[in-house]
Formats: sequence, structure tokens, C-alpha cells
Amino acid sequence: MIGIFDSGVGGLTVVKEVMKQLPQYQLVYFGDTARTPYGNKSAELVTRYAIQDVRLLLEKGAKLIIAGCNTASAVALDALKREFPDVPIFNVITPAVAKAVSITKVRRIGVIGTTATIGSGIYERLLREKNNGYQVFQQACPLLVPLVEENWLRKPETKMIVRGYLSGLKAKSIDALILGCTHYPLLRTLIQAKVGRRVRVVDPAEETVKTVQRFLATHQDIDSALAKNGKHIFYFSDVTDKVRNIATHWLGQPVKIEQIKIE
Ligand code: DGL
Repeated sequence: MIGIFDSGVGGLTVVKEVMKQLPQYQLVYFGDTARTPYGNKSAELVTRYAIQDVRLLLEKGAKLIIAGCNTASAVALDALKREFPDVPIFNVITPAVAKAVSITKVRRIGVIGTTATIGSGIYERLLREKNNGYQVFQQACPLLVPLVEENWLRKPETKMIVRGYLSGLKAKSIDALILGCTHYPLLRTLIQAKVGRRVRVVDPAEETVKTVQRFLATHQDIDSALAKNGKHIFYFSDVTDKVRNIATHWLGQPVKIEQIKIE
């Protein structure tokens, strides 16, 4: 199975993308709703949680892991690779950076994400490695996750907050903007309207799943170890009506949800 983990429900946007691009693969999901959010926690704590999340998915039969959470991808990726050297682990940051680099003409890239993701410095690091004069302009948007989870997608208050977060980035004349948080693709239309048509918006989930697809096409051994056409399984560390509602609503279909303890 392909295992996807996230701090909570946000990684379901990545699940949705896998269902679209790789529909035959069986998924096992873990959302750490008991300890969500990760985005305002320290890198040390998120790293510890991420290692536990991956271990749980491997115990449940995952043979390939996608760190669906931008925060965990940003702060824990090296630690995960060290801890699980034999497991193919994908993150949602590097494919998004590669896409942004391929589309920017002015080499000025904007990034929005949680406080922990923006504070991690991962985007500066990855773009510096490209050694090509890319400039990154970032904005933490901590209020957007709860607004999306409350389904306040079209409320005037949300529009105002999005405008407040994005006006500084817009002034930097970026021409690519990475939606560096699982929840932001749900606000894509609003965000696009605020930054204007000149700015191309990058959804990390889309790019990550394309990367996984390319990897599977050239790694037959791993591809054949992944279960196909089975029923997806969704584990959460705390199951509430809100979790059930978001899962059904975001995925557009009722799914089987199980509660599981993590420590
Ligand atoms: N899933 C997180 C991310 O993509 C957002 C929610 C949280 O802060 O835990 O960064």
C-alpha cells in the first residue's frame, strides 16, 4: 500500500490527488488528529511525531510513504530518511520547488505555509542549492488552517484575511506562488484572485503525486509490492464528527475511518 500521513485531515488533499492520478493503488492514511496542528509546534516535536507516524504506516503494511504534511516534510525529512533508510519516502516540498523553478520567469517565488514550515528555512535552502539566483518571499498564514476546517471558504472574513496575508507577497513581484500547506488548495480560487493571473499557483500535492508516478514507472520492484484495487483505509488518532464530515466532504465519498492510538 501507499502510506500517507499528515498532522490531521489536511493530507486528505494529497489522498485526493493520489486517487486522481494513481487510482489503482490502495492507500493507507494516518491523520494525527489527536495531536494536530503540527504547524505551530517545534521542529523537534514534529520530527518525533513524524517518525511515529511513519512507523505506524509501515506496521499497517505501507511500502512507500508520502509525507503529506508540509510541516512534517519541512522539518523532519532528513530525520525520516535516516530513521527509515530502506523505505521510499516522498515529501511535498521538493516537487513543489522543482515546479516553481520550472515556471518562474523572474526567479521570484512566493511561499505560504504554517509558521513551522516558513520558519524551517527549507525553501531558501533548496533554492540556494539550485544556485541560480532564485529569490524566495515567504509568509506564514496560521489563520488559514482553522478557516478551511470550518469550511469558511467563501466568507468575507476569509477573503479579508487572505488579502492581508498576500498583499506583501504581491508587492514583491513574484510570478510563482507555492501553496505550502495541505489546506490551501481548498482556497486556491480565492488565493489566485488575490495574487492576480500573472502569478502561477503551485499545488504541492499535484506535483508530489506526479513525482511518485515517475518513480513507480522506473522502480518495478516497489511498484509490484504495492497493493492495487483494494479498499483504502483511513486511520486517525482521534475521530470526531468533524473528522468524519471533512473526510466525506473533501474526498467526495464516504470512507471507512478507524481510530488508532499513537505514542
Ligand atoms: N498539515 C499541515 C501542513 O501541511 C497543516 C495543519 C497543521 O498545522 O498541522 O503544514
